Amino acid sequence: MDELISLLSDNDYISGEKLCLSLGMTRGAVWKRVEKLRREGYDLRSAGKRGYALFLSPDSLLPAYVQKSLKTRRAGLGDIYYQRSISSTNAWCKEKAAQGAKDGTLCISEEQTSGRGRLGRAWDSGKGESLLMSLLLRPNIPPENAHTLTLAAALATAKAVEETTGLRPLIKWPNDVLLSGKKLSGILVETAADMDLVRSAVIGIGINVRQRAFSGELRNTATSLFIECGRLIDRRELLCALLLNIEREVELIELGGFSAISEDYIRRSATIGKTVTVKPVSGESEYEAQAVSLDETGALIINVNGEKRRVVSAEVSIRGGI
Ligand code: BTN
Repeated sequence: MDELISLLSDNDYISGEKLCLSLGMTRGAVWKRVEKLRREGYDLRSAGKRGYALFLSPDSLLPAYVQKSLKTRRAGLGDIYYQRSISSTNAWCKEKAAQGAKDGTLCISEEQTSGRGRLGRAWDSGKGESLLMSLLLRPNIPPENAHTLTLAAALATAKAVEETTGLRPLIKWPNDVLLSGKKLSGILVETAADMDLVRSAVIGIGINVRQRAFSGELRNTATSLFIECGRLIDRRELLCALLLNIEREVELIELGGFSAISEDYIRRSATIGKTVTVKPVSGESEYEAQAVSLDETGALIINVNGEKRRVVSAEVSIRGGI
């Protein structure tokens, strides 16, 4: 964190003289630093002899504000990178992961020009309307369990939304978080693994926060927190809750695999007990089934005309829903 920002406690003034002493800088140099931070968007106020104070702007996702609000031990404690516009927060994190970035590195943006979705699709959202973030973790998980990170991320998203809004989202297997049966968030986890360990996992999450309406195809399939709550939700509060929940769920699966979070996940499932259409990613034709349960690895157990099957990766839609 910028040294000046870390010296300024929230909403409280500290004299210019004290700042100069603590930073070993002249008054002119402190002033220049203050101006630079203001240009970046920080609400730094000065009041004559009282000195300087940092005010926490609501909703702002600037790194020092996020750092001051975080209660995590790991997520967001590596570098936090913020850019108003970026190609994709996942692409940025993957690049940093390849260069050796630390566990807990976080990338946040207001807008993506090439946002990535599942199955090679694009993920679009208007500037400042969503919470767009990717978290780099170096989890202690064997490669065969890498897919459980996706389920953990969905559970963490549902819990963070509930804590921040009081609404109770459900999860369409494997990782679509729904409110009123419509998609609220998209999750894309990209992992790189060695023979026996996941080397890096980029957990990318986009949550629709401020959209007032959706048009075209999305009108019946997508929703936002504004649409559901009728008020603006503070994205920084949501982000901090999200990071704390991701950290908790990932630590649970590091210790006990999917079984450690399965009860919580199943309680929030929109899929289990429903008639679903399963579209295999292999390109085989789709078929109808009953979604029965999840097994200890997080695979979906379905019943097709009396025959039990295990689905590991497929597009599943719920009859009468999305
Ligand atoms: C889906 O298809 O449902 C997954 C969408 C994932 C979108 C998020 S937004 C933040 C992160 N960066 C990306 O490029 N994609 C993910």
